[in-house]
Amino acid sequence: MEGWKAFLDERERLNLLRRLSPSSTRGPAVVVRAGREYVDFSSNDYLGLSSHPALVAAAEGALGRYGVGAGASRLMSGDLAIHHELEETVAVFKGTEAALVFNSGYQANTGILPALFGRRDAVFADQLCHASQLDGALLSRAKLIRFRHNDPEHLERILAKHRAAFQRALVMTESVFSMDGDRAPLAALLAVCRRHGCRFMVDEAHATGVFGPQGRGCVEAEGLTGEVDLVMGTFSKALGGFGAYLAASRTVVDCLVNSARSFIYTTALPPVVIAANLAALRLCLTGETRGGELLERARSFREALRGRGWAVGGDSQIVPVVVGETDIAVNLSRSIEERGFLALPVRPPTVPEGSARIRFSLTAAHTDGHLSGVLGALGVG
Ligand SMILES: Cc1ncc(COP(=O)(O)O)c(C=O)c1O
Repeated sequence: MEGWKAFLDERERLNLLRRLSPSSTRGPAVVVRAGREYVDFSSNDYLGLSSHPALVAAAEGALGRYGVGAGASRLMSGDLAIHHELEETVAVFKGTEAALVFNSGYQANTGILPALFGRRDAVFADQLCHASQLDGALLSRAKLIRFRHNDPEHLERILAKHRAAFQRALVMTESVFSMDGDRAPLAALLAVCRRHGCRFMVDEAHATGVFGPQGRGCVEAEGLTGEVDLVMGTFSKALGGFGAYLAASRTVVDCLVNSARSFIYTTALPPVVIAANLAALRLCLTGETRGGELLERARSFREALRGRGWAVGGDSQIVPVVVGETDIAVNLSRSIEERGFLALPVRPPTVPEGSARIRFSLTAAHTDGHLSGVLGALGVG
């Protein structure tokens, strides 16, 4: 036991003492911790859909009809018509031939890449790509090469240098970056991909539901529907539910059904979750969600912070306030927490050394009072 304690203490030091902090309850904009209510600026429930009556009613209906679990994997008897209905709706939403639902975004990225790429291939990834994308690339055993964040010219240079050494190549990015809240130059990256014979994969986890007409994402917003080979996204953020999807060609989807291990070797998502995801997509498709309004509020919030000298980044509903050193971010987060606002510090290794930050996620559920309150806590207004 002692050996383990020393080993774990060392790991804990490296992990900078992250701790779980349970909330006893949560709504779209508030959480209750240790009996105190906080306005939540750390949630990805960007549209406040997790408790929307349409999602709740859909989930309740599915619960009554199917019970709690799916009972088996999709390739066994866990495959239900409602899974296919969701996939068909995703394909319509994303304007692709087909779509496949995965049990989470993490499982999607770690399943898709190893199924499509291997030892003789290369994956060129933006430096700030999410851990799940990088883990997928590592699992695929393709050579992982990083290009500078949002820098198509750097990508061009490294492709000119390395592309010829590999059989197939993938360029991979997020469309809205989760920690910086900025957006990838998708059209420029796609042009570089095409010049060098690469496939292009975009993770729309933080764009789905918020960007583009009816929240279809940045690929659609930038007129690139049908051009990007692999468009991945999640139901777990703006769509308020759980799980993820890949929107792609029928050929790719059929291949993944037979080869993506994170799809094959896991129990299908419960129908209650699928029904809620379907309800969320329908709300988007009927124009009932208002991603544009959320982006406009985020723009004003960002401007107010900048006006008082804060170093604010991003170009989305995610507003990082970069303070530099970890202890400054931790102390700032604690001080606004004392005033009833939860915005957690993000520090190395999640972000580069010297760029610790407080990440504010704005959601449609925040009231004007919540926004002016947190700005007041930061000395703005
Ligand atoms: C860019 C990105 N991709 C994938 C994921 C994983 O999605 P999920 O939480 O559904 O596993 C996340 C967030 O967690 C993310 O930020």
